[in-house]
Amino acid sequence: MNLPFEIDRRAFIASLGGATAVALMDHEARAEALEEYTEATLDTLVGQNQGGQGGQERFPTVAELEAQIDTRPSRRGAGNLFVSRGGGNVKRLERLPAKPTLVDFFKLRFQPANHVLQSATRAMKTGMTEEVILACLLHDVVQALVKTDHGWWGAQLFEPYVPEKTAFGIKYHQALRFYPDEAAGYEYPDLYHRTFGVDYVPPPHIQETYKMVRKHKWYMEPRLVTVNDLYAFDPNAVVSLDPFIDIIGRHFKQPKEGLGHDNSPSAHMWRTLANPDAPL
Ligand SMILES: [Fe+2]
Ligand SMILES: [Fe+2]
Repeated sequence: MNLPFEIDRRAFIASLGGATAVALMDHEARAEALEEYTEATLDTLVGQNQGGQGGQERFPTVAELEAQIDTRPSRRGAGNLFVSRGGGNVKRLERLPAKPTLVDFFKLRFQPANHVLQSATRAMKTGMTEEVILACLLHDVVQALVKTDHGWWGAQLFEPYVPEKTAFGIKYHQALRFYPDEAAGYEYPDLYHRTFGVDYVPPPHIQETYKMVRKHKWYMEPRLVTVNDLYAFDPNAVVSLDPFIDIIGRHFKQPKEGLGHDNSPSAHMWRTLANPDAPL
């Protein structure tokens, strides 16, 4: 890779949770993390060079992002399991056990899961309820399957197995991400200017959902998911599923047949995650 700046190796490793966490990542996950880190660093530098307050000039417009659609080999909403990460071909997936658990899916399909682990770590440190911590841990993992409308897909995937409040938090965090709430400590993220375009207006279903959730008695469930939804990694955070095993044990109804084999309304989604290579 030819870069117009030097990557700070120590800061990069720290951003992933330290050397131990990096050692656990496979080659492709590392390549992908480096790519993300490089993009973020580049954005910061471009912003600084332009010297603007908030540096809005560095973000693309909606039209610019749309113009990129036919320059890509896959669509932006495609789930991570279906697209090569870090360039080249997709890799062979390790088989899941006959009766796979949530932890098996974390280890074999949701990797590297840094983002959700760090969000859940923060939720734990800030004293959130176990329902919110679990929602933070699960809020984005459905992106292995599909990214578009991932709040709704994610809630559907987990609804049969988690507390109602947790599913509510997962479902609506997607819409609340677009709406700041100063009192709760949530600002519109810069990342969204980059991802959606600086002049992006959320579609009607997001606007309507926001209005409904804002007045809902459980508003704080998804709101606290957004508050703990981190893209700036805390170098001191421990990236591991271990601290959450007890919470999973208390609140996740693991089916004895294994996820995908219990005939639940979302069993097919788990089977697709287990075997994304099935042609039909
Ligand atoms: Fe999300
Ligand atoms: Fe997230």
